[in-house]
Amino acid sequence: MRSARMDEFVEQVRSQSDILRVVQSYVPLKRKGNRYWGCCPFHHENTPSFSVVPDKGFFYCFGCHAGGNVFKFLSLIENVSYFEAIKLQAEKLGIPLPERQQSPQEIARQREISDLRKVNEMARDFFHNCLTMTRMGETGRAYFAGRGISPETIKEFRLGYAPNAWDKLSVAFQKRGVKQELLLASGLTVQRSHGSGLYDRFRNRVVIPIADERGRVVGFGGRVLDASTPKYLNTPETILFNKRRILFGLDRSHRAIQEQGYAIVVEGYMDAISVFGAGIHNVVASLGTSFTTDHCKLLLRYASEIYFCYDSDEAGQNATIRALSILRDTGAVVRVIVVPDGKDPDEYIRRHGADAFRQLVRQALPLVEYRLQYVLKHVDYSTLEGKVKALHAMLPVLGSIREPAIRSEYSKKLAQTLLLDEGVVRDELQRYARKPEGDPAVLEHAPIRQAVKQQDGAVRRAGRIIIHMVWQDLSLLQHVISVLPLTGINDTVQREILLFLQDLSSRGEAPDDVTAAEHLSEDAAAELSRALIEDLGGRVDTEAYNDSLKVLRKAYLNALFLEHSRRADEYMQAGNHAYVEELHEVMKIKNEMDGL
Ligand code: UTP
Ligand code: MN
Repeated sequence: MRSARMDEFVEQVRSQSDILRVVQSYVPLKRKGNRYWGCCPFHHENTPSFSVVPDKGFFYCFGCHAGGNVFKFLSLIENVSYFEAIKLQAEKLGIPLPERQQSPQEIARQREISDLRKVNEMARDFFHNCLTMTRMGETGRAYFAGRGISPETIKEFRLGYAPNAWDKLSVAFQKRGVKQELLLASGLTVQRSHGSGLYDRFRNRVVIPIADERGRVVGFGGRVLDASTPKYLNTPETILFNKRRILFGLDRSHRAIQEQGYAIVVEGYMDAISVFGAGIHNVVASLGTSFTTDHCKLLLRYASEIYFCYDSDEAGQNATIRALSILRDTGAVVRVIVVPDGKDPDEYIRRHGADAFRQLVRQALPLVEYRLQYVLKHVDYSTLEGKVKALHAMLPVLGSIREPAIRSEYSKKLAQTLLLDEGVVRDELQRYARKPEGDPAVLEHAPIRQAVKQQDGAVRRAGRIIIHMVWQDLSLLQHVISVLPLTGINDTVQREILLFLQDLSSRGEAPDDVTAAEHLSEDAAAELSRALIEDLGGRVDTEAYNDSLKVLRKAYLNALFLEHSRRADEYMQAGNHAYVEELHEVMKIKNEMDGL
């Protein structure tokens, strides 16, 4: 799909980009030999495990396994797509973007998006100015003051007020040349049902601008000043505004989320504003809709832990339980901040202050603990039926605990609370674990961040040495393949890298970081960075190569050995004479393994 001109452009940007300079403009680095070390900007740490090797053009974090080339770094830290990162860097270097032929539909859509952004921005300023600078805004100012929202917070969030009139905004914007269609498309105005003309959607409400994670206004929430309904009115779905994807406040909080290593998720705008105003900056709100896997993905880009802090009323608790079930297979570490006496975070902070809330954050319950308390509160476990019900409600959470010691600890605790025999809980848990995994729709999102925490044994290390050397000299690949088929490499990520290199080599192309970044999966790209960056003990010589190949061959034979033994077993049990051949294979493999 990409044109030669685009390739040329990318190549030009890459050749002029110095990964060291780029990284250093975000992260202080210290030199050790030919590599540079610093504290990883993508997870929280105090001792540096983040490393850049300028000669190779790659970075890698040994803590969170983020890795890649200069563009990957920019895309992660600036939170933009890979291609946008290239464009950003081109802009910095003053390299003009090649002109690309766009289809008329593409052009129209681009224009619509950019027009919508503009009109949203205008509206944000309109509401904000109305609140802060006009007589009409007095009611809004009084409302915010009554809620303890400071002028600084009003400024920080660009909060606003929509005047108590039918068409102030419509008229003002049309005077400024904004077309009716655009006003309607933005959701800022509504078509009158009788007669022609427009009226403003937001009237006599305080207005909260909602931005995407890059700070571009995508919509608004407007709150009534009294107890009338609906309490909040929001921008309807537009091409920019999709509640399932937007987290309110993320544009201001993503740095803090990265630094703290976790995000606090609250239910309402006002909660997020209040928590932020209290100096706790790693907070976002999920806009009253349920927390979605898209939200989760968005947050996992910044941190692996998510703390839920929903209202402590019944609805809030149920929403928490729903959110938790969405998160179960995402690899996120989840905790729940429990706000006492039926308050939401905003009310709690107003009554008890920021420090008290901070204390609640520190006391956040691990997911199992929360679930257990919830189940015990909602099930009458004095009856046998109730005990079974409570036990079954707990199984998914217990089953999702990875560490056996912790799992067993909680199983014990549950057994004690329910006055059940521990063995019963254990058996049920085992039965549950054997069942096929839950909802496939949820599972699809499973390995979002589950950082490539696979065992890092000798085999993977050997694989990295081979990758490292093949990267430098593709002609080695023929030899590697003569020793073991690439498809026989057990580690899926390393296999992917080597198959990619084979593909390049068959086309007579040399490997480079840009092509790699484009063709490899996220995990494979990170593993490649690691292979190229890791200090392999200076062992990248012929001897290391031969040793590593031997380790891989052995692992391959071992897998073959198991496979043929299994088949021999099966045939034998079925009385099938083919088992003789299988045994023959097994012996052959065994012999070779002994000889290695
Ligand atoms: P809440 O009813 O908990 O509101 O709804 P809140 O945050 O405590 O608001 P205040 O403190 O009374 O001002 C939580 C979220 O649900 C959405 C909004 O995003 C709100 O922040 N919501 C609520 C709506 O969209 N419409 C509504 O009518 C009510
Ligand atoms: Mn509230």
